Amino acid sequence: MKWNNSFAIGIEVIDAQHKKIFERLLAIENAVAKRDPWHILRFQLDELGNYMKFHLAVEESMLEILRYPGRLQHVEAHGEIMKQIAELEEALKQSSKVEDLVRFFENWFLKHVLAGDREYATYVKQEFPALMEARVG
Ligand SMILES: [Fe+2]
Ligand SMILES: [Fe+2]
Repeated sequence: MKWNNSFAIGIEVIDAQHKKIFERLLAIENAVAKRDPWHILRFQLDELGNYMKFHLAVEESMLEILRYPGRLQHVEAHGEIMKQIAELEEALKQSSKVEDLVRFFENWFLKHVLAGDREYATYVKQEFPALMEARVG
């Protein structure tokens, strides 16, 4: 699945990270479609997992600092994301249903971005508007 600007939640830093996640997902999707060897997929999944960990940590610290009221629930949903990445890794070891799982994960992650992440973005926009366009690095 390709990144689409309609996925943007309006916080530049976060949108840039979501975009990177979608690029990594697309790379995995392509590798699965091409039937690339196991070690390539393994490497790509590691990259996805590491980047995802980084992204979720950024979001969680941001929500904590800004005292977002729904932060606990949001952190719980993030736990689910990491669980699903672990499942993908497991499926890869058994080389079973990787394709379906990748697609399932993509849809699920997109739902999180469009619902959960968009919800906190509304809060950030109201309470800390300057943050919407802040850049890092
Ligand atoms: Fe996110
Ligand atoms: Fe999130």
